[in-house]
Amino acid sequence: MAEVTLKHVWKVYKDSGVEAVKDFNLEIKDKEFVVFVGPSGCGKSTTLRMVAGLEEISGGEIFIGGKKVNNVQPKDRDISMVFQNYALYPHMSVFDNIGFPLRMRHFPRAEIKRRVEEAADILEIRDLLKRKPKALSGGQRQRVAIGRAIVREPQVFLMDEPLSNLDAKLRNQMRTELIKLRERINTTFIYVTHDQTEAMTLGDRIVIMHDGVIMQVGSPSEVFNKPENTFVAGFIGMPQMNFLDGELKIGAESASVTVGGKEIALNADHFERLKAHGARSGRVTFGIRPEHFEMKEGGIAAKADVSELTGSTLNVHAKIGEADVVAVVQIDEDDAEPPKPGTPISLVPEQKRIHIFDPDTGKSLLYG
Ligand SMILES: Nc1ncnc2c1ncn2[C@@H]1O[C@H](COP(=O)(O)OP(=O)(O)O)[C@@H](O)[C@H]1O
Ligand SMILES: [Mg+2]
Repeated sequence: MAEVTLKHVWKVYKDSGVEAVKDFNLEIKDKEFVVFVGPSGCGKSTTLRMVAGLEEISGGEIFIGGKKVNNVQPKDRDISMVFQNYALYPHMSVFDNIGFPLRMRHFPRAEIKRRVEEAADILEIRDLLKRKPKALSGGQRQRVAIGRAIVREPQVFLMDEPLSNLDAKLRNQMRTELIKLRERINTTFIYVTHDQTEAMTLGDRIVIMHDGVIMQVGSPSEVFNKPENTFVAGFIGMPQMNFLDGELKIGAESASVTVGGKEIALNADHFERLKAHGARSGRVTFGIRPEHFEMKEGGIAAKADVSELTGSTLNVHAKIGEADVVAVVQIDEDDAEPPKPGTPISLVPEQKRIHIFDPDTGKSLLYG
């Protein structure tokens, strides 16, 4: 069993005084795949390196498999780590590269052979075992690096942006392979990325970080559908959620929000949630994802800007007052014409997909 628990973990880099991680609390279940995601510099790698034991912990406690590891050496933590800049030994064959951690630990030759071949089968690189790294493609090298981590059969796998050096096509392919890999080696994973698509497709749970602080923890659908603040709402989802100034009106039995001069009724579920969050009438930030805007009569008045055809959808850029918005419009008619720049259009937000945030704190008034 290897749950990983972080309790009130802090990291201050002494030389620079940077508070890289602040009061990080998380319980990762045995065999769970957790992704840390957030912009560059938000503290993902620092947190992962503290779990690995490669970075000293300034405060708090870390447990692996129920055992406190604050003072346990990295090699005694039963973890394997794959980095972005995976270094393979150029003079060694793929077989020897993968088997290296086992040779270091003086495993018997037969056992090394068994484990290396098993890892090579999982990663489908069995026919490459005799090659040297220079005779491999980027994706194949990355598989060798992962193989070297697999053979240890660790309790916990740590991966820090393992795909970010690969081109887009290879990255998509390796992402699919990681999902398969995960099904075959059933162990606890902590995976770091700055890419929200990678986080959404790989994680059982996603930890969204910003400036050393956890902004939200949840399943991909939770963080997408129920973002607890404007940071998460804006970080998850492409194109980004639209944010507009709104005026919330809470009545005795219903609520509405006025955006761009248009009063939009909120549904009963939102009304209850607003009350539960202690929301009051007044200024709010209104949020709606581009794909939850419909271009049809009776909505918020907007002025079309350029449109981008992406294939089956049209990204319509527009202005509501001074604010820039995007609407993703499904095109199902062959003759559908994008609106010409400058023409007035009307955008209707899908009622149940509306988000309302406190304009000062950025906190959701519906979720969290
Ligand atoms: N060795 C270090 N010494 C001083 N500051 C560091 C060191 N490593 C990282 N930092 C700082 O800590 C913060 C978090 O960095 P990091 O954990 O690498 O972020 P991420 O992996 O999310 O990009 C950043 O402000 C970074 O500049
Ligand atoms: Mg990093």
